[in-house]
Amino acid sequence: MSTLVILGTQWGDEGKGKIVDLLTSRADVVVRFQGGANAGHTLKVAGEQIIVHLIPSGILYPGITNIIANGVVMDPAVILEEKNELRSRGHFLQDSQLLISEKAQVIMPYHKLIDLGREELLGSSKIGTTGRGIGPAYEDKAARIGIRAGDLLRPDWLRKRIAAALDEKNFLIEKRFNKPPLKLDQVVDEYLNFGAQLSSHITETTSLIYSKISSGSNVLFEGAQGTLLDIDHGTYPFVTSSNVVAGNACCGSGVGPSSIEKVWGVVKAYTTRVGQGGFPTELDNELGEELRSKGYEYGATTGRPRRCGWLDMVVVNHSVRLNGLTGIALTKMDVLTGISPIRIATSYELDGKITDRIPSNIEDLGRVIPHYREVKGWSEPLDECRSFDDLPKNARDFVETVEHLSGTPVTLVSIGPGREQSILRKPPF
Ligand code: GDP
Ligand code: IMO
Ligand code: MG
Repeated sequence: MSTLVILGTQWGDEGKGKIVDLLTSRADVVVRFQGGANAGHTLKVAGEQIIVHLIPSGILYPGITNIIANGVVMDPAVILEEKNELRSRGHFLQDSQLLISEKAQVIMPYHKLIDLGREELLGSSKIGTTGRGIGPAYEDKAARIGIRAGDLLRPDWLRKRIAAALDEKNFLIEKRFNKPPLKLDQVVDEYLNFGAQLSSHITETTSLIYSKISSGSNVLFEGAQGTLLDIDHGTYPFVTSSNVVAGNACCGSGVGPSSIEKVWGVVKAYTTRVGQGGFPTELDNELGEELRSKGYEYGATTGRPRRCGWLDMVVVNHSVRLNGLTGIALTKMDVLTGISPIRIATSYELDGKITDRIPSNIEDLGRVIPHYREVKGWSEPLDECRSFDDLPKNARDFVETVEHLSGTPVTLVSIGPGREQSILRKPPF
């Protein structure tokens, strides 16, 4: 058995796509287990940049099976768009490279309308969602009125399921959001058409993952978002609508907990966040702007500028505990070149008390004062380094400080967006 979960430890955009792409060279199967097209995972290979939202980041390797598992809320239009784009660029040439669980929930047009409509009504207290219909789709899953990928292949059943959901949705769309109602025939036709185009991909995936793990294949689970966006353990209500923690690799793909061997958290060497919500180490100043421009911190899904701040070990250690991390992939070290001293938050002060925990209430989180440790920066560019010893001493010290403060080995250091700009210190398989 050789399984590895890769997930985000902060508020997303830590560089998960790059790490998954890199490690896919050692894997047989890559599985997306939660989230939807709210994710934007950037792959950079031989100077070419590709952003995937739903198709797993293993797609650039022809012989690998990529699975969109049952825990994902998948937008068929986005998958088809990504497939076309990848094909036109010479990738994803075999349909067999992508399997979609027949149990994956489907994003419907009303999910997007409701997502956007709610945000508009919330005004200044909006969540800042990606508008991809994620929350409303997970709500329907729990309400048992969701449409699943397998339904797209059964015309009569699909019509029944959409008709049942649409009654209530149109009430909301018309009465709450003042928009014209959706027409049943139109929605059914559109989604049957999606089904026809995706039929070669939609299948039962749980038993396949089971047999791959049983036969000793290397299976990589690709998380989306970040632990602080987890619906239970994140900065609620400014979170996404799924569990993003490692435990959900099991529920979201149908494998038992004892099948998960390693869990690597991707940690950006500083912190970013898109959308609203607390961010104790945020730098709303020139330094924050410098991180944004050097790190090119703009949303891969929405293009929104990302808020930037110092590395926060209270956040990272929250993730270490919740995910049972066995390794850290430390990314974007190169962006810190030229910044000295570098600050790392190690605890918070709340109402005069020192704590190393994230407060559960968002108002408390807004009041914490981060306490920092300062470490010396370095001026040498890192992007050409290919081994740990190539890194300047202060950069090596920074890595070791992260290890010390998290109690977790830094198994991989990333010093640029390219596949080759990576120092793999301990291969997972
Ligand atoms: P994800 O959502 O976690 O996959 O991350 P995103 O793709 O949304 O954002 C990460 C951004 O940082 C992308 O533009 C990557 O190409 C880029 N990136 C990843 N690792 C590194 C790194 O080590 N250095 C630099 N400079 N950029 C990186
Ligand atoms: P990747 O996988 C960063 C954020 C949104 C918003 C909140 C809720 O690329 O790291 P949603 O549309 O999910 O209901 O939005 O979550 N968010 C992300 N932020 N990276 C992501 O994914 C995100 N996916 C959702 O900005 O604050
Ligand atoms: Mg992203």
